[in-house]
Amino acid sequence: MSVIKVALLGFGTVGEGVYSAIQSHQAQLRKLLGKEVRIVAILIRDQTKERMIDANILVTTNFEDIIEIPDLDVIFEAIVGEEPGRSYLLQAIEKGIHVVTANKEMFANHGHELIQRAQENEVNIGFEATTAGGVPIIRTIKQLLQVNQITKIQGILNGTSNFILTEMRERKLSFADALQLAQNKGYAEADPTNDISGIDAFYKLMILSQLVINQQPNWSEVIIDGIKSITQEQIEQAEKRGQRFKHIAEISFNDHSLVASVQPIIVDSNHPLYSIEGVENAIAVEASLVGKITLQGPGAGKFATASAMIEDFVDIIQHSATKKRREYQSIK
Ligand SMILES: NC(=O)c1ccc[n+]([C@@H]2O[C@H](COP(=O)([O-])OP(=O)(O)OC[C@H]3O[C@@H](n4cnc5c(N)ncnc54)[C@H](OP(=O)(O)O)[C@@H]3O)[C@@H](O)[C@H]2O)c1
Repeated sequence: MSVIKVALLGFGTVGEGVYSAIQSHQAQLRKLLGKEVRIVAILIRDQTKERMIDANILVTTNFEDIIEIPDLDVIFEAIVGEEPGRSYLLQAIEKGIHVVTANKEMFANHGHELIQRAQENEVNIGFEATTAGGVPIIRTIKQLLQVNQITKIQGILNGTSNFILTEMRERKLSFADALQLAQNKGYAEADPTNDISGIDAFYKLMILSQLVINQQPNWSEVIIDGIKSITQEQIEQAEKRGQRFKHIAEISFNDHSLVASVQPIIVDSNHPLYSIEGVENAIAVEASLVGKITLQGPGAGKFATASAMIEDFVDIIQHSATKKRREYQSIK
């Protein structure tokens, strides 16, 4: 049986999730794709960490070792920060390797460039995992855009913020205690700045904007506010009025302007995001024909994020197989 050769960049929460998911779903993948999916290499930063990786897989700190592998089909990128992720993916694309990324900071900053280069080099780029983890919002929007015009998106795009707000309301915790609990449960990073300042949700909103209209608002004009200043008392007052604080990333696509914000908003019980609790993410999309749709699900985590990446991978392999078949038929 022929083989699809893949490499992973990063073996942290997400990279390890992709590794396990490929191993545990090998039979399903083989049935879908007609080939064995073989992980041939993994890029990491720290050689001294102990990892459970098959001995026949190359584990390296040198990207050159990976990019030089003959006939590599797909690279999964799950490292952190704008660089070196951007440069690695550009090199992969130039070599005709398909890429799948979970790296939202990198993709919010460089997604446009990567998509363009991927088109020029006739490879595909999957980025479902960058936004709302396991929630299939990217493919839903792509599907809607075939006919609908999307007019507005509102989302709870950061599970840590939503968890903190939920705990502050339900268990009357202070912000500091709720944050500590989020860290203890492994929801918040050791440095939770991007989560609680709204930056993480902002990156995801910019990725959605790029997807919907191939453009992002001027970043300096987007209001970005986190949840740090919300007090337990304010939450209690809102609750007495039947309202809740939600941290909402929002963008409206008007004819001539893009209006975007990321901030805590008080919502009534009839708001589509009112009942989204804990670490869940949700995105409410308004579109010209379909009206309002809300998608909800796990916005982060090892397997939810791996699921989004594997779905992208399957799409890419199936799409390129169809393309090759069409090319072959047109030559005949
Ligand atoms: N965690 C989630 O639920 C989630 C959800 C959606 C998207 N994401 C995105 O997915 C990416 C990975 O997140 P994560 O939670 O898996 O992070 P993580 O647990 O910190 O793992 C990062 C991995 O990348 C490796 N790495 C970092 N910098 C590197 C470099 N310069 N060269 C080579 N390897 C490098 C690290 O190597 P070492 O192991 O050697 O340190 C580690 O294996 C991030 O961009 C994140 O924003 C995460």
